[in-house]
Amino acid sequence: MTQVSIVGVADSVAQARQRYAERRPVAARMHAEACEVMPGGNTRTVLFHGPFPLRIARGWAQRVVDVDGYEYVDMLGEYTAGLYGHSQPAIQAAVRQALDDGLSLAAHNVYEGRLARLLVDRFPGLELVRFTNSGTEANLMALSLARVVTGRPAIAVARGGYHGGLLYYGGGGSPINAPYDAVVFEYNDVAGARDLIRTHGHRLAAVIIEPVLGSGGVIPAEREFLTMLREESTAAGALLVVDEVMTSRLSPQGACVLYDVAPDLLTLGKYLGGGLSFGAFGGRADLMRRFDPTAPDALPHAGTFNNNVLTMAAGIAGLTEVLSDEVVLSLNSRGERLRRALNDVLVRYGWCATGVGSMVGIHPLPGPIRSAHDLAGAEDLRRELLFFDLLERGWYIARRGFIALSIEVTDADVDGFVEAVVDIMRDRPELSV
Ligand SMILES: Cc1ncc(COP(=O)(O)O)c(C=O)c1O
Repeated sequence: MTQVSIVGVADSVAQARQRYAERRPVAARMHAEACEVMPGGNTRTVLFHGPFPLRIARGWAQRVVDVDGYEYVDMLGEYTAGLYGHSQPAIQAAVRQALDDGLSLAAHNVYEGRLARLLVDRFPGLELVRFTNSGTEANLMALSLARVVTGRPAIAVARGGYHGGLLYYGGGGSPINAPYDAVVFEYNDVAGARDLIRTHGHRLAAVIIEPVLGSGGVIPAEREFLTMLREESTAAGALLVVDEVMTSRLSPQGACVLYDVAPDLLTLGKYLGGGLSFGAFGGRADLMRRFDPTAPDALPHAGTFNNNVLTMAAGIAGLTEVLSDEVVLSLNSRGERLRRALNDVLVRYGWCATGVGSMVGIHPLPGPIRSAHDLAGAEDLRRELLFFDLLERGWYIARRGFIALSIEVTDADVDGFVEAVVDIMRDRPELSV
């Protein structure tokens, strides 16, 4: 990459930012007001971008409108949590019904057992399950359970792994991570990860892994890698925790079946709450029984909103009325088609698209991309320029190049999106790597 091309990209990004800001006076004002009472006007770091973040007023189906009146096709799908789109009628009806029956009941309710049954029947290996309010909490609970049952302190994680706001292992790891003693291996590095697990095996409570490194670049695991993690976890006496918070959407039964890997503990989140705050952890009955309040050595598991009626009702409606196996399969084959079409275009410009099924990553690198390490050379300004150019044309993706299709995204949307990328790449020589 030449110096000239980087300068070209920097200039183009500066212009794109300026145009973005000039066209969005309402969002600019709201951001300034929010900055008076929130650090950076923000409460969710991933959504922040300069010069001020996109502010959405409302959404329906696969569309959103920002506070300045610009409409976009939503290809981001709330980082996988928006699988049902913005206004699924069965989910809206279930939430209205739950609202009518009253909130904050401070008791077991009619929903939680039904949602648990649906999840246990759906995901192999999920023998017993408990609910949380987020995927972060689900992973914290799973790892804490692993530490209690093994009596060991440490966990093994992949570099670039994102298991929640307190469990991020990109770069050197987040300074606000939960203080677990973590050893870090490279994703898809069979020999390196095996050595690391063997070296630290005696003190490992758990190995935690995403079947697709989601936030870390939408990088699929290779089968051999997950098979090795399963074998080495067992050999070390550590639990294998598979984080399916994002990937459970990749087949009707989640991603573990695609890889033929059996977790000891499984964590879930995102869309399974129907679009409301959600998390769940579960797995082997002998481990999860530790949370049975009637057990003599019962572990506590608290959370005021763990069984909140709105999430439980929305989750049930989604799984029973919307998400048939056919819907999951067609969602993911549409994602495969998108990735193939993108790669046909991007290869000419030195970019590539990664992922599995309905989870797609776009990178300013030719690939192949097998680990966070392979992404190290990606020029962030190019991602930013693509993001702004797509917004200009009415397409919303994550600034970092992440796409998660909702079931409302159509084949025509996929074609239109690819056409937009073709146009942008053709008109922007500075984007070429
Ligand atoms: C793989 C994975 N695990 C856990 C989480 C955390 O979930 P939540 O944002 O609900 O806390 C995320 C969120 O993006 C995720 O992608």
